[in-house]
Amino acid sequence: MADQKYDFVVVANRLPVDRHRDADGNVTWRTSPGGLVTAMEPVMASHDGAWIGWTGAPDEELEPFDEAHMHLVPVPLSQQEINEYYEGFSNSTLWPLYHDAVEAPEFHREWWDAYVQVNQRFADRAAAVADKHATVWVQDYQLQLVPAMLREQRPDLRIGFFLHIPFPPVELFQQLPWRRQICEGLLGADLVGFQLNGGARNFVRTCRVRLGLKTHRDQINVEDRIVEARAYPISIDAQGFADLAGTEEVAARAIEIREDLGSPETLFVGIDRLDYTKGLRQRFQAFGELFSSGQLDPDSTHFLQVATPSRERVEQYMRLRDDIELLVGRTNGHIGRIGMPPISYLHASYPRTEMAALYRAADIMVVTPLRDGMNLVAKEFIACRDGNNGALVLSEFAGAAAELKQAYMVNPHDINGLKNVILRTMDDDAANRARRMKAMRKQVFEHDINHWADRFLSDLAPEED
Ligand code: F6P
Repeated sequence: MADQKYDFVVVANRLPVDRHRDADGNVTWRTSPGGLVTAMEPVMASHDGAWIGWTGAPDEELEPFDEAHMHLVPVPLSQQEINEYYEGFSNSTLWPLYHDAVEAPEFHREWWDAYVQVNQRFADRAAAVADKHATVWVQDYQLQLVPAMLREQRPDLRIGFFLHIPFPPVELFQQLPWRRQICEGLLGADLVGFQLNGGARNFVRTCRVRLGLKTHRDQINVEDRIVEARAYPISIDAQGFADLAGTEEVAARAIEIREDLGSPETLFVGIDRLDYTKGLRQRFQAFGELFSSGQLDPDSTHFLQVATPSRERVEQYMRLRDDIELLVGRTNGHIGRIGMPPISYLHASYPRTEMAALYRAADIMVVTPLRDGMNLVAKEFIACRDGNNGALVLSEFAGAAAELKQAYMVNPHDINGLKNVILRTMDDDAANRARRMKAMRKQVFEHDINHWADRFLSDLAPEED
């Protein structure tokens, strides 16, 4: 059967939905984890295009299908490709390298070969479903070779690329044995987008220093073309989150959550993928010390952490889970009383309504990654608040810190500093907190996901004659 053609095509490692089979064998589709899907879903709602991606399971050969009002085009991955391309090169080489090497990146030649092979498959699929002169928007670090592979087959297309995670300084990036190929892959795009100016500058500098290309500000000369590299800080569907959080169901659930936790005077909440970039060890260390020293009173204060399971077969993630469970157990065992542990730790993923209720239930949201491209949880919390109450403790090393300047900023490596900011935020007066929240809400509502997509896509669109 001939492929259906589309004018607008998103290419991402994952489809926005994962397939789940219940005990009776019934198949349902659920939203995939992570910020990329949260961000791109509303973009698809306003563009009638196709989304090419993997279903999250091994060896699934599926025909294109429609789900959640989207046209989905599955790309199969074998178990070995999942091991080598996804868990290996994407998540044990690129992920740590691009996040300041907070865990040591591993370099394996067979992982690289799998990365090339899978990128070629995504590019072939995109070439097959993109209509003449279509716009193809490639997403994230798993698919950095796709732009050049696609241009090779389909020079008629407008090709954009957006990197959702940080692009590291050349001093780090140059460790990668395949640094030239990755840059050349990205340079197949007409426009390469980054979360922050720093990432865009790092990429331009790498192209100049390592590839010897001529650059001028945000432009890179590639043979007869000019590739632009710019910052487009990603966001969320702020109004969508606000509407959801404003429903009676969510409001009632938020009250119930606080009651179930013993109605604390102050509820701290963290919600993260269970990832070593998120600064969870440091966060638990800080809360553990504050409860142990009595600076936080477990009778009136509670810390609730949701850690969404992620990349569970990758060794560093298994180690992290063990470490976190040890830290939580130690504090609760030491400080907790019957029915009153000071920390609640949930290793689970929740639907968006429950997340909205958690954002509403929280007094203080704690977002303290060691490194993060953006961090949409911080923005979701702000969008879900009922007015200007509540406070955000935010790492300086989250991309969101560039926009949410009124957050209570921390360096998460500095445990004493982190403890001080937690206490200062709790003790700050209501007027101060409200002033900060008001400014952050203005920022998030005025720079929502449509603003982000419109800016990127209008910069990508061909110039009118
Ligand atoms: O933005 C970072 C990112 O890796 C996305 O590409 C991805 O959708 C999300 O985090 C979740 O990660 P994974 O697909 O590996 O579960």
